[in-house]
Amino acid sequence: MATFQSLPGFRDFYPDDFARRKHICDLWRRTAHAFGFAEYDAPVLEPLELYKAKSGDEVEGQLFSFTDKGGREVALRPEMTPTVCRLVGAKANALKRPIKWFNIGEFYRYERMQKGRGRSFFQLNADIFGEPGPEAEIELIALLVQSLCAFGLTEQDFYIRLSDRNLWFYYLEALGLDGSRVREMLVAVDKHEKYGDDAFKGYVEQFGPLDAGLKAKVLGFLQIKSFAALEQMFASLQSDKLPARLADWKKLLGGLDAMGLTRFVEVDLGVVRGLAYYTGFVFEAFDRKGELRALAGGGRYDDLVEKLGGPALPAVGFAIGDVTTGLLLEQRGLMPNFIQAPDVYCVIGGDAARRAAFADIHALRAAGRRVDYPMKEVAFGKQFKAAADSGAKLALIYGDDELAKGVVKIRDLSDRTEREVPRDQAQAAVRDYFSA
Ligand code: HAM
Repeated sequence: MATFQSLPGFRDFYPDDFARRKHICDLWRRTAHAFGFAEYDAPVLEPLELYKAKSGDEVEGQLFSFTDKGGREVALRPEMTPTVCRLVGAKANALKRPIKWFNIGEFYRYERMQKGRGRSFFQLNADIFGEPGPEAEIELIALLVQSLCAFGLTEQDFYIRLSDRNLWFYYLEALGLDGSRVREMLVAVDKHEKYGDDAFKGYVEQFGPLDAGLKAKVLGFLQIKSFAALEQMFASLQSDKLPARLADWKKLLGGLDAMGLTRFVEVDLGVVRGLAYYTGFVFEAFDRKGELRALAGGGRYDDLVEKLGGPALPAVGFAIGDVTTGLLLEQRGLMPNFIQAPDVYCVIGGDAARRAAFADIHALRAAGRRVDYPMKEVAFGKQFKAAADSGAKLALIYGDDELAKGVVKIRDLSDRTEREVPRDQAQAAVRDYFSA
């Protein structure tokens, strides 16, 4: 009979794989807590309607959706943003401000598989609700930076591209485009890096041939890579909303500078984000070498809570994915070898030694230490190899000689030093070692 395999794009997590995923999620969780975000959760299966016309055509086309036994149209969540808007919208008045929430969960998109893309993946989502100003963006970009630095990554490994859909709107409106043309043009801008001129196909199909002057201006704008260039570009354009917007930019960049994060952030108007709901600042994180797909993406989405039936509530957030983060950590040698290592590995002689060891093993485990030992009696050499391979910090040696002397030998596996302690002091010696 053929053996069953997981579906394409879905991952099995054998213990080593699980340890790597857990390492990523643990550090994300610790970092989000350090920034004062509160953890929440929600169902993985949602009404299909939640995503229709909200996430955008691309994500909508990738939904795992079906009709359930009660005749409801449902979908596995492709992202968290509509769900968190549903949750916050339903209780907005009762929630303590500022609303800073995070979640770590699994998401599902029927994507064409490529390196760094699967059909199920984990994300850390962090979002702030109720803050209209760039203070929220400062907080979130700082959290995004730290969600990568927590693993030992630096500005040499990744950077954040920061852009602004509002400025695109002001610019394209000043060039005479109406709302629907602007939106379609932004779809083209989003695709331009990947598809070059083909990105304009959708715009041309809807609105006719693209004026060469307009195209040149769009291509010029998406190449803006500094705030100074941005100010210069707008110097000659009329827009009443512009001064306030440029003040927002200054506040955002100033806040990031004060946090010492400027080295991670690059102004780059080429980013507009594919998801349909973004309204203001948008940002994406990439590896510096440009070898991987995006590590993270996010931005402001001030209309979505209201669109989903809640009150008008400004919002901004981001999600970072486990697949590209894991690949980057592997590439940089920053994925630890021994994630699930025991603290202590016991090397044990004959039956009497085993009985002596068991008493200590159980007591140490009950006190919260991770302790392992060979299930069956095997040669000492093999046991020492198993101790080294396990990644444990200490080996406790209960040989027949030690038993006869009434001692336990403690070997520090990092520097291979050994000492003997009386049997009844072994537990205390282990405790002292780990509390030192
Ligand atoms: P997104 O850009 O679609 O944004 O996804 C964020 C990150 O999730 C990506 O940068 C990538 O690392 C990871 N990711 C997305 N799709 C896949 C996939 N098929 N396979 C592996 N990893 C993937 C959002 O999801 C927005 N909801 C983020 C957000 C939160 N905006 C506001 N709040």
